[in-house]
This record gives sequence, structure tokens and C-alpha cells, in this order.
Amino acid sequence: NANYEYIVTSRPEPNVLLIQLNRPKALNALCSPLFKELNQALRDADRDDSVGAMVLTGSEKAFAAGADIKEMKDKQFADVYKNRFLEDWADMTKISKPIIAAVSGYALGGGCELALMCDIILASPTAKFGQPEINLGVIPGGGGSQRLAQLVGKSRAMEMVLTGRMITAQEADKWGMISGIVGEGEGQVVKDAIAMAKVISEKSQIAVQAAKEVVNEGMLHDYLGRKDVGVKGYFIAYETTLTEGLKYERRIFHGLFATNDQKEGMSAFAEKRKANFTHS
Ligand code: CAA
Repeated sequence: NANYEYIVTSRPEPNVLLIQLNRPKALNALCSPLFKELNQALRDADRDDSVGAMVLTGSEKAFAAGADIKEMKDKQFADVYKNRFLEDWADMTKISKPIIAAVSGYALGGGCELALMCDIILASPTAKFGQPEINLGVIPGGGGSQRLAQLVGKSRAMEMVLTGRMITAQEADKWGMISGIVGEGEGQVVKDAIAMAKVISEKSQIAVQAAKEVVNEGMLHDYLGRKDVGVKGYFIAYETTLTEGLKYERRIFHGLFATNDQKEGMSAFAEKRKANFTHS
């Protein structure tokens, strides 16, 4: 579709849609219009019988470096709360067909969360994942605190979210965040993701849709959501479901826009200096 400004779509295989994020100068920072276009392309493909699977990728240097900090920095709590800032990001989790993330370079903050909202993540050896929101005086707002903890466990998720440290593709692989690391070479991760999407697109589309639906249903309810899981006679009471956790995360994320530290953290990034937090 030639009308897109922030993404480029193509058909590398007759039944595979490739979506490439296309804001290279901003390392594919996820501004609101970009996410609108992405969701539109995904929705269109979901309704198009000639698409069996989709691949989402960025550039060699960056899958996506997060939500757009310059767009966010001056927002007040009233803006983000009233406009339900980032809530529409999760629209992509309602897509029925499989989405494979082909990650090269930085997948940070919202970029890491974007990959986590896809169904399969393939990474190039150069990929770096991280939730650096803490350096901006905020927290993940697109599911990072919830989906990440589900995948890698509490201690590793806490480490990433509290220190903001980027992890390597090798660590992400070892930690069970991704499906695997592809061979070296420019464009390899996209080639491998397309090949995987082609395999999927040759299956029964209705069975593929059903398979995705049931795996996701389990992710929504089983791990965090089961209220009374019997383990060797003991009962573990989890307090929340993924849906509730995501909503809670977004509320707290919104709340941080009422702090001085959010303004300072994001302004410091835009001004290319170190943040001077006042804990207020
Ligand atoms: N938002 C807006 N602009 C961004 C951006 C972002 N998330 N990430 C990078 N850019 C811009 C830079 O400002 C710079 O713009 P100019 O050329 O106009 O100065 C350009 O992209 C290139 O970036 P750098 O010069 O910083 O490139 P680098 O190679 O020196 O560093 C990097 C790369 C380590 C990824 C660094 O850009 C960086 O730390 N980016 C921010 C990462 C981040 O904090 N992400 C989380 C965002 S908050 C969030 O996502 C909330 C949420 O949960 C939804």
C-alpha cells in the first residue's frame, strides 16, 4: 500500500506479507501514526484470504528503539489518561493470523514489547532486547512488565525492568524469550522468518488460526491467571490475569506522567544528557 508513510509492505511469497517498519532515522521509534499504520496493515491482511502468515521487521540497526520519547516527553497525565495512550497498541494481539517478528539490532522498550506481542520471535546474532524505560523515569507501558515476566520469570524480568540493561540475542535465547537465533549476515533473519511464514502459509489457514487461538488462550489465563493451580497437593493463588495485569501496568505507566522524573528523564534523552532525577 503506497499510502503508508512509516511502514513498507510487500509480498516476498504469494501468501506471506512482509511489514517493514520504516523510520530509520529515528531507529523505528514507534510514534502514534506508525502504530496506526501497522495495525491497519495487520487488520487488512487478517481479512485477506491470500495472506497465510506475516513477518514484521525493522532495519539491520533497529527493530524498534521504543515508543517515541520526543512525542511523549511533554505529555501530561491528563493527556495520556484521557486518550488511553498506547491502549491501541494491543489491537495487534487480536489478529488471528500468525505474526513472526524478525529482530535485528535494538528491540528496546516498546520495541521489545512489540516483539513480545508477535507470535514467534526470530533474532539475528546482533539483536539486543531491553526495557530501558527506568532510565526515563517511567516503566514499560506496552505489556513489558507482564509478558516478559511470563516468559523469562520474575528475577530476570525484574533485572531487565529495574536496571534497564540490554540483553544479547544469546541471553534472550537462553532465557526462553525467543524461538531462536539465525545465522550471521545482513537480512538473514528476514529470510529465515519469511521461510518460516511460508511453511505456515501452506497449512490449513483455519487450523493455523485455531492453533494460534488456543496457545494464546493458555497464555492469557493459565500462567498468571489460574486462581487455584494444584501442585503436589498445594494450591498457588495467583492474583491476576494477563488482561488485568496489562491494564494495571498501563494505569501506573499513565500515572508516572504526573511526576517530575518522567519530564526530566524524557527531556534528558531528547537533549542528549544524563537525567538528574529528583525522586519527585
Ligand atoms: N524515541 C524517539 N527518538 C529516538 C528513540 C526513541 N525511542 N530512539 C532513538 N531515537 C532517535 C534519537 O533521538 C536520534 O535522533 P537524532 O538523530 O535526531 O538525534 C536517532 O534516533 C538516532 O539515535 P541515537 O543517536 O541515540 O543512536 P545511538 O546509536 O547513539 O543509540 C540507542 C541507539 C541506544 C537505541 C538509543 O537511541 C536509545 O537509547 N534510544 C532510546 C531507547 C529507549 O529508551 N526506549 C524506550 C522508550 S520508552 C517506551 O518504549 C515506553 C513503553 O514501554 C511503551
